Amino acid sequence: MKKFLELISEEMKQAFEAAGYDRELGKMTLSNRPDLCEYQCNGAMAGAKLYKKAPIMIANEVAEKLAGSNIFSEVSAVAPGFLNCKVQASFVGAYLAEMAKTEKFGLEMPKNPDKVIIDYGGPNVAKPLHVGHLRSAVIGESIKRIVRYAGHEIIGDIHLGDWGLQMGLICAEMQERQPDLVYFDEKYDGEYPTDAPFTIAELGEIYPTASAKSKEDEAFKEKALEATGKIQSGVRGYRALWKHIMAVSLPDLKKNYENLNVDFELWKGESDVHDLIPGMAEKMKADGYAYMSEGALVVDIKEESDTKEIPPCMILKSDGAALYTTTDLATILERMEKYQPDRMIYLTDKRQELHFEQVFRCARKTGLVTPDTGLLHIGFGTVNGKDGKPFKTRDGGVMRLEMLIDEINEEMYRKITDNREVSEEEAKQTAKTVALAAIKYGDLSNQAAKDYIFDIDKFTSFEGDTGPYILYTIVRIKSILNKYKDQGGSLEGNIIGAPGNESEKALMLEVAKFNAMMEAACEETAPHKVCAYIYDLANAFNKFYHETKILAEESEAKKKEYIALLLLTRDILETCIDLLGFSAPERM
Ligand code: ARG
Repeated sequence: MKKFLELISEEMKQAFEAAGYDRELGKMTLSNRPDLCEYQCNGAMAGAKLYKKAPIMIANEVAEKLAGSNIFSEVSAVAPGFLNCKVQASFVGAYLAEMAKTEKFGLEMPKNPDKVIIDYGGPNVAKPLHVGHLRSAVIGESIKRIVRYAGHEIIGDIHLGDWGLQMGLICAEMQERQPDLVYFDEKYDGEYPTDAPFTIAELGEIYPTASAKSKEDEAFKEKALEATGKIQSGVRGYRALWKHIMAVSLPDLKKNYENLNVDFELWKGESDVHDLIPGMAEKMKADGYAYMSEGALVVDIKEESDTKEIPPCMILKSDGAALYTTTDLATILERMEKYQPDRMIYLTDKRQELHFEQVFRCARKTGLVTPDTGLLHIGFGTVNGKDGKPFKTRDGGVMRLEMLIDEINEEMYRKITDNREVSEEEAKQTAKTVALAAIKYGDLSNQAAKDYIFDIDKFTSFEGDTGPYILYTIVRIKSILNKYKDQGGSLEGNIIGAPGNESEKALMLEVAKFNAMMEAACEETAPHKVCAYIYDLANAFNKFYHETKILAEESEAKKKEYIALLLLTRDILETCIDLLGFSAPERM
């Protein structure tokens, strides 16, 4: 379906043309004076220069042409030359009726869909998930859903940090604790045990202990580095231990992401591209891009237009070891070979900006990607506490994801059971659903690049620009629809009609923005646009609800139109929250 603004712009353009002016002047925008009009056109102002004529004269001539318009109910030319417009009630009603019966509410699908890979989540195996990983998962999941809904093919890859020092630290710590384990016996050439020598709970203790120790004990750190090297170079026992760490950690990680309603098509990691690195490095050398500098293999990526210093991209350290950059480059190589994506999107903390700048430049320069492959890094801001400093636990420690989720769940449970009779079971379930909305909406309603304050009181509030408010609105609509059914009404076969009052029309005009909003959200990979839209939509619905007797409406025909409007509003809200990665309970 054409966008609402496009349709009314077309009407305005025709009027400009009929009055003898360039039709392109007829572009309409939302009104910036909603007290005066719904839409406006500033074309007469621009036309004034072109035609050397007072803008108000042009505006008057155009307005005249629109006297009998089927689309505009009111067009007024106001000084110095604006065209203020209101649209016909019947026109909005018909547009919504069409939306309701069109797939994806009239969002048009791209002619040439892109194939996209989105790299998000990025947890480090065996290390606790922290708040930064929450943002990557929450924003990445939403972008994936938005891009997919908009008609593109998109594959999500978790890109596990599974090849780093943390793995070596765990091996070194295990060796200190249980030196007799068969994994450390170099002469051993039999099968290794299928059961891991630790549980997930033990692993949760082993890593922090080892990490703390390595900061004080140089010799221990040296051992951990050695162990990391042994894992990477394929020493049998170390690889076997590494596999155990993976096998024990992954189910736990999966559970964590499942609780967040986040899922990945690919569970690949840094380790998966290990074997591609030597060949890639060799080729970069042979092609003349990579050279040795102070023992390390590097690629220059400076560009003439640079205003800041961009250091060379290091491919191999002087000891021959690969770096974070190297695995990212090899991953690009693998993705291009396996999937030939049109573009790749990465989500990490914005402090990794330089890293991605280096990786992208190097990938382009060395021909790992074709010139028209899109490479986009979305760097997000820090999650801060109310004091404006990075979010910490009450006692000042790093905030773990699980703790944060527990805290929000508890607060939500308290609010839901406050003054209400609900069964324990249902309250718990509802609290979980609403808490997830509180967390995700709290995050996604901000522009990703911005830091934001994790304010539990605000996020869990049922009022204001919050997840719970949106859910509350959806639940309200569902309950009216249920009542209507209980009274014998049918939800099927009702058709939206022309709005009967101002708040109904205002609601409809909000609904009508859906396809334009979705297009922008996809193009700009901006979930906050979906949030802003549903917040406005929820506000418009609640105003309508307070000013309209819906079920007490005397005219059965009008009541049916209301029901159809409620259904469309509910469906759009539910679609949008699904794109944000959460859902609404039946009651709350
Ligand atoms: N594991 C990394 C971290 O915790 C994030 C990985 C992001 N993805 C990537 N392809 N580099 O910082």
